[in-house]
Amino acid sequence: MSLLEVGLAGVVARGLTLTRTPRAGLALADGAFFATLLGAGLSAGVSLATVAVWRAGLGLARLVAVVGGRGRARSPTSVGLPSEPTGSPLGEWLHRTAFRVLASLPPRLARRTRAGVFKVLFSLSEDPWRYDMLPYERRKRVALVDGVPPAAGDAGPIVELGCADGHNLQALADGYPHTRIVGLDISPLAVTAARRRTAHQSHVQVEQADARGAGAALQAVGVSSIAVLVVAEVLYYLGGPAQLAVELKTLAPLLKPSAVLILVHGTSDAERLHPAAVTALDCSTTDRVIIDDPYRPFVVETARASDDPH
Ligand SMILES: C[S@@+](CC[C@H](N)C(=O)[O-])C[C@H]1O[C@@H](n2cnc3c(N)ncnc32)[C@H](O)[C@@H]1O
Repeated sequence: MSLLEVGLAGVVARGLTLTRTPRAGLALADGAFFATLLGAGLSAGVSLATVAVWRAGLGLARLVAVVGGRGRARSPTSVGLPSEPTGSPLGEWLHRTAFRVLASLPPRLARRTRAGVFKVLFSLSEDPWRYDMLPYERRKRVALVDGVPPAAGDAGPIVELGCADGHNLQALADGYPHTRIVGLDISPLAVTAARRRTAHQSHVQVEQADARGAGAALQAVGVSSIAVLVVAEVLYYLGGPAQLAVELKTLAPLLKPSAVLILVHGTSDAERLHPAAVTALDCSTTDRVIIDDPYRPFVVETARASDDPH
């Protein structure tokens, strides 16, 4: 399939589905495009990367058009962007399914494809999920930081797996100015963005690491124990419940006795993936708060490692 055909398929899919109902339209367009690429014989990873590029490109074009037209871009409303993330259950399902397929590929291929997808995403924008702009993301961030028990946060280190461009790291660092805070992400571009964002916070460190290599990456920078492990909006990139045991295996031994695990995901992802993550990390749930957010309810789950030293 030529690039021209890929582009045309995207434009047709979007044109067919986006006219009346943007949320469902986006999802359907994504699905149609993804299926077209798969049908044309592309691998799941490449198809997903192409859809991601297509989506990000459209967003960028829209932003450029609006900013160019109005001259000033200050808030989501002023640039004509939605004030909450766009998405739909179908879109989410497709997204999750694509990453589950990816996770079942041979490990090295899965890691390279994932890294490629996030490289594309972060090369199009340092903030692909618009954490800077969206009130929903801010609400989640506040709930996440509030979920950290102060004693554990003060004790540190705090580690975030899949820190993206460092929004959570920055907020955690503001809340815990004397604690060592380490962010890990598979994407080197995300790491660069997170380092830049937290450059003024010398107690924050950001390293590139895939989830499977997280334990070794932490030990390489002298982190041999974790007091608080944050995993937010990441689990569905690691595969389904069965794959989490493998993906998170190297982190469990680093959790201090009574270390705190904070998981933050939308309710359906939380129901599907939190129990497996808690088990994989050898923890027990102590609190599970459902935040009935007007945009998309999410869960802040707190679990504790056993108080027996490993
Ligand atoms: C949706 S963002 C979540 C960012 C942040 N945790 C939050 O809650 O806002 C997911 C991040 O996880 C990273 N990621 C995905 N798969 C990963 C893996 N296998 N290992 C490490 N990071 C990964 C991506 O690069 C991306 O930056």
